[in-house]
Amino acid sequence: MFNTEQRVENIFLTGATGVLGARLLLEILLTTEACVYCLVRANDQQEARNRLIELLYVYDPQRRCQSQLWRVIPMVGDVSAPLLGLSESDYYELAQGVDRVIHSAAGVNLLASYPALFDTNVGGTHNIIELCLLGKVPLLYISSFTVAGRQLFNDDYRLKESDLDLGQSFKHMSYARTKFESELAVHEAGKRGLRWAITRPGNIWGDSVTGCYPLTETRLKGLYYEVIRALVETGITFSAPQNFDVSPVDYVARASLHIILEIDRFASQTFHLTNPTPLSYDGIVDFLQQYGYRIKRMNNDDYLAALAENRLWFQGKPYHSQFTGMLNLFYANIEQGGSLLLDTEFTEQSLLPAGIACAPSDCRLMFCYFDYLVQRGFLPPPDQQGAMAEVVTLTTSR
Ligand SMILES: NC(=O)c1ccc[n+]([C@@H]2O[C@H](COP(=O)([O-])OP(=O)(O)OC[C@H]3O[C@@H](n4cnc5c(N)ncnc54)[C@H](OP(=O)(O)O)[C@@H]3O)[C@@H](O)[C@H]2O)c1
Repeated sequence: MFNTEQRVENIFLTGATGVLGARLLLEILLTTEACVYCLVRANDQQEARNRLIELLYVYDPQRRCQSQLWRVIPMVGDVSAPLLGLSESDYYELAQGVDRVIHSAAGVNLLASYPALFDTNVGGTHNIIELCLLGKVPLLYISSFTVAGRQLFNDDYRLKESDLDLGQSFKHMSYARTKFESELAVHEAGKRGLRWAITRPGNIWGDSVTGCYPLTETRLKGLYYEVIRALVETGITFSAPQNFDVSPVDYVARASLHIILEIDRFASQTFHLTNPTPLSYDGIVDFLQQYGYRIKRMNNDDYLAALAENRLWFQGKPYHSQFTGMLNLFYANIEQGGSLLLDTEFTEQSLLPAGIACAPSDCRLMFCYFDYLVQRGFLPPPDQQGAMAEVVTLTTSR
């Protein structure tokens, strides 16, 4: 199964049909000579390959990677299954044959319960750790800045890369809890000889150069883009001055790949792949307005009450979207007040020699994203923005 004649690295990647994993796969194909073994949930290898290629081309519409697709080897499996759902022979060959593992697969539904996420997120990480220990393969675990738990809303705290267990609570934060527990498992496995590094991305947005992002191609739609859609659709918003991280996917992918390729330098370290220049939700609204969209700010309580009472009226009916469905969770956090600062100094210093830096979340970056959304028909151009939603009173509501 493994090509040992050429001096190519063999990388095992999970989650390659996801927002980050697909961009990681592209980065590997364009910047290394490695073969990439991708664990994919699918009925058969052909379906797995088709899904991988579909996602790859979202980030690579010019198909620069086409001649390199032979280096992509789909493996049908599931991180939560024994032996990752592989045959015994494939599993042992994989463990012996790869020289890096990047574990990006996870359930990322922020509303899912802990039991619903556990098998994939915590169980899956344990399974990947066992594979790595068996083959003595270094592991990059893709975690999340949400491991800070409820400290995320505490602006007195600055989370350092070396911080993990702060006694933080995870009330209503099941996803974050599973990422935290996975990090603990990785640390624990270090005592059994695992060589590891961890990256903690922030909110992953599109490619900072092309704007590309899989808007419809992943199973779970990107929440941040649903926020933008809801803002433009309704033309009404509340206010939230707290940090709202915008981490370009190309930065997260490049940095993550560099860290695992250079594991000798970066072993047992954690990195914050958040944007060192955070934006706020209000800042995003400002950029949308500068881009030309009409968006009216409302008093927060009035907005939420209108939503809860079905009085936010749009196109003849109460407005609901994926974003408004999550708003209670989102808003409870806003109400809590603060927003944690993530220390990125160690990460920035570590990546500097390789010339890897995060694009600042400024007008150029956000307009690049908006251009892409308009080009893909996800947003109307500003001059074709439809009628705004309105808040109706109970007596006039139908
Ligand atoms: N997106 C963000 O803003 C963000 C922020 C911080 C950290 N992260 C972390 O970054 C990583 C990637 O996230 P993402 O945004 O790329 O998520 P995503 O778009 O939802 O992709 C998740 C990937 O994991 C795969 N997967 C899920 N359950 C699996 C299972 N049981 N077995 C095998 N594969 C499975 C999915 O496969 P299917 O295609 O079959 O569903 C998909 O390829 C995750 O670890 C996440 O926690 C993401």
